[in-house]
Amino acid sequence: MASFVLFLHLARPVGDCLRAGPMRAAIASKFLPFPGRTSPRRLMSALDGSLARLGLKTIDLCYVHYPLPLIDVEGFAEGLVEAVKSGKARAVGVANFNADQMRRIADHLARAGVPLAANQVNYSLLRREAETNGVLAACRELDVALVAYFPVGSGRLTRPSDSLGTKAVLTCLADIARAHDASISQVALNWLMARDGHVIPIPGATKPHHAMANLDALAWRLSETEFDAIDRASATVEQESGAHRTPHLHL
Ligand SMILES: NC(=O)c1ccc[n+]([C@@H]2O[C@H](COP(=O)([O-])OP(=O)(O)OC[C@H]3O[C@@H](n4cnc5c(N)ncnc54)[C@H](OP(=O)(O)O)[C@@H]3O)[C@@H](O)[C@H]2O)c1
Repeated sequence: MASFVLFLHLARPVGDCLRAGPMRAAIASKFLPFPGRTSPRRLMSALDGSLARLGLKTIDLCYVHYPLPLIDVEGFAEGLVEAVKSGKARAVGVANFNADQMRRIADHLARAGVPLAANQVNYSLLRREAETNGVLAACRELDVALVAYFPVGSGRLTRPSDSLGTKAVLTCLADIARAHDASISQVALNWLMARDGHVIPIPGATKPHHAMANLDALAWRLSETEFDAIDRASATVEQESGAHRTPHLHL
């Protein structure tokens, strides 16, 4: 169960850290499906591999990384149910599922008494499709967390940009950041959390101080006026989705 090769290398050190001290961390992992690798048995064996690498008996959240063309999304439900019923995952989710796919798998899981906990999708001030394609609405309706990946646009909201739209957002974020003695990325994360209680951003941290700064973003909230100003600035962004699209995201 490794979304990326990198994670195979990281799983053991993460497991070592978890065992080293009194730290409570929520551990999520993704099952990477591809044609011929979609069955419940393959999902469970991938989950077992992840648990072994992490040195854990259970993880908090087990995702299916994305839907596949020609494979019924319901087909993944059985494996996810088994992950929970076996005690190897506390909760289950999906990633890159559209609203219809989400509803269908949530329905199948519910029949087995397992709630769909999360749908992880690309969502940031530079990429707001989730608000218009029905995913955010479905998350609200089904009470599913919208886990926002690329919440700072894969770093584009943390550094100067040549794009006019991104510049406008960055200028607005910088003004508000100054008022809160915060960083631009902290304001961007705060906006996502203020947007809806179902949104949980998962910023990537490549440096220890990123992790601390991202954590500090939880300590304060935007005012309504600030929220609206960012909302308006972001609405002018030419949706720069193409550059960061990966083929599987729009199946
Ligand atoms: N489900 C999926 O299909 C999927 C796809 C892609 C990603 N994801 C997940 O999404 C998460 C985030 O992805 P991501 O890391 O590419 O995107 P991101 O969180 O939007 O961007 C992270 C980048 O922003 C910069 N950054 C983060 N925190 C910062 C801070 N406090 N101050 C300054 N700069 C900061 C760093 O850039 P520098 O390194 O340049 O400093 C970091 O690499 C990951 O957990 C990833 O696994 C999921």
